[in-house]
Amino acid sequence: MKTIVLDMKDRIEKEGMKQAGEIILAGGLVAFPTETVYGLGADALNEEASAKIYQAKGRPSDNPLIVHIASMESLDRIAAVVSPKAKKLAEKFWPGPLTMIFQKTAEVPKGTTGGLDTVAVRMPENEIALELIRCGGGYIAAPSANLSGRPSPTTAAHVLEDMDGRIEMILDGGSCGIGVESTIVDLTGEIPMILRPGYINQKMLEEVIGEVAVDPTLMDANSKERPKAPGMRYKHYAPKADMTIVEGSQEAVTAKINELVQEELNNGGCPGVIASDETMSCYPQGIVQSMGSRTDEVSITAHLYAVLREFDEQNVSRIYSESFDTPDLGMAIMNRLMKAAGHQVLQV
Ligand code: TXA
Ligand code: MG
Repeated sequence: MKTIVLDMKDRIEKEGMKQAGEIILAGGLVAFPTETVYGLGADALNEEASAKIYQAKGRPSDNPLIVHIASMESLDRIAAVVSPKAKKLAEKFWPGPLTMIFQKTAEVPKGTTGGLDTVAVRMPENEIALELIRCGGGYIAAPSANLSGRPSPTTAAHVLEDMDGRIEMILDGGSCGIGVESTIVDLTGEIPMILRPGYINQKMLEEVIGEVAVDPTLMDANSKERPKAPGMRYKHYAPKADMTIVEGSQEAVTAKINELVQEELNNGGCPGVIASDETMSCYPQGIVQSMGSRTDEVSITAHLYAVLREFDEQNVSRIYSESFDTPDLGMAIMNRLMKAAGHQVLQV
């Protein structure tokens, strides 16, 4: 299959968008930008189309997909119950980087929900995404457009790296602004629960609906319980090199990472370092990449996956990362970094 890439960075080209919608309606696959990461879209109400997503990504079939909608009116057809809290969250955060879990209606095939009776729904903010949803029948199932186990794509070039020849089309809308996947909140229980941290944090949610819990397994590698979102159970976002996060005071962290870099060089390896704009110059050796400025948390989420992909390309042998436990997005950032590192943390 030849994968067509359409450039829509400057404007949404009508004819191309129509073609993209037709591919979706015919049961094909189109990757598209959102404000979080690129999605790999198919008709969510067509079980065979959803099956193609799993095939193209190499994704386990019990890992459910998020259904993307473009208007509030679309919600009732796929969500059996929309609670007052869910309505409040939708009013405040949709369109935007929030996914909510509802009991599903019979309209949503189990092939889209990984066999579950619930459905994850999100209304993205990106204009290209919204237009594709409208042209493609109103309901687009879309996981992140990476091969299973690779970092999520935040540019069309990342999507092409993983999906060339596997999907019909990629809509290029430039770099994603947020760069980590949407916050997932389960609204089917008594107390809403965050199943995946993202840009919309616990405090922002609690300001709108009161108490919100966090899935306790998210940051705890030793938890005996399984994460509630099936996708959070798999090893994810993994760079090829073995990665370690070093935590402690900035001085101690810098000294330890420099020591580990020296060791790796002595062993003939090629060490990589994940630092910030503020600390980059503290690392004189190894391949050093900045995630952005610690004073601009969104610059860190926006660079995270690109940095991990970059290290794959440079074939580094080991990665040492600073910790990024920043005030608002720290949970979202550290959740991804911990997974990339297989929860290897060194306290200094
Ligand atoms: O920002 C995003 O959410 C991106 C863009 C493309 O919208 N999409 C995305 O999809 O991250 P994906 O498939 O990579 O992650 C979806 C996550 C998985 O962890 C999955 O297990 C969980 O959502 N999920 C989906 N449906 C669920 C359900 N009914 N119950 C619990 N978890 C669910
Ligand atoms: Mg994903």
